[in-house]
Amino acid sequence: MKFIVGNWKSNKTLTEAQEWVHTFSSLYHPKAETQVIIALPFPYLFPLQQDLKKLTNIAIATQDISPFPPGAYTGAVNTSMVKEVASYALIGHSERREYFHETNQEVANKVTLLLEAGMTPIMCVDEPYAKAQVAALTPEQLEKIIIAYEPLEAIGSGQPQDPADVARTVETLYQFIPTQTPIIYGGSINDTNAHIYLGIEHISGLLPGGASLDPQKFNHIIHA
Ligand code: PGA
Repeated sequence: MKFIVGNWKSNKTLTEAQEWVHTFSSLYHPKAETQVIIALPFPYLFPLQQDLKKLTNIAIATQDISPFPPGAYTGAVNTSMVKEVASYALIGHSERREYFHETNQEVANKVTLLLEAGMTPIMCVDEPYAKAQVAALTPEQLEKIIIAYEPLEAIGSGQPQDPADVARTVETLYQFIPTQTPIIYGGSINDTNAHIYLGIEHISGLLPGGASLDPQKFNHIIHA
């Protein structure tokens, strides 16, 4: 199984998001053994789910989740609010770790709550911190998540990491995560380089950010 995860980040108005879904629906054909996941901003989960639900092998993710259960946590969006529409959640993205000061322990708390809610965490890791980021989880948790390896300098730079270096890091990561845990790669993936990164041994998919904003490019990546 391959996973193609589009991360819209903090982009698009609701109208633009609806246009994206409209165009993408007209282009998309499901591909065998490929799970497509679209990580939407919170306000668009419910308005877009109806149309996305009609498409085969498409799932919705959140781009984050509260590290707390329901309760007095102003502004927080918890798993019980989104689990009926989103089966996945991105967590620990380097932008969240950098700009929102999220810690490994908070990310681990999110993993616990997501798994309790029946959602699959897609945990982003980066070097040289990956070992500590992964060590915050239990071996049982590590078996149930997807790991997204995203080198910091490759994110949004137009310069993906050299495929040989990605392969080496993936090999290193498997020294401390279970062999069945999928690892996907993210960082300047686009419609022309996707096939190269999908071809790397032990890479189970891709996490395009910028390129997922264009339905045409995102569809090309799925079929790379
Ligand atoms: P990018 O973003 O594809 O725009 O580099 C990837 C990500 O940060 O998830």
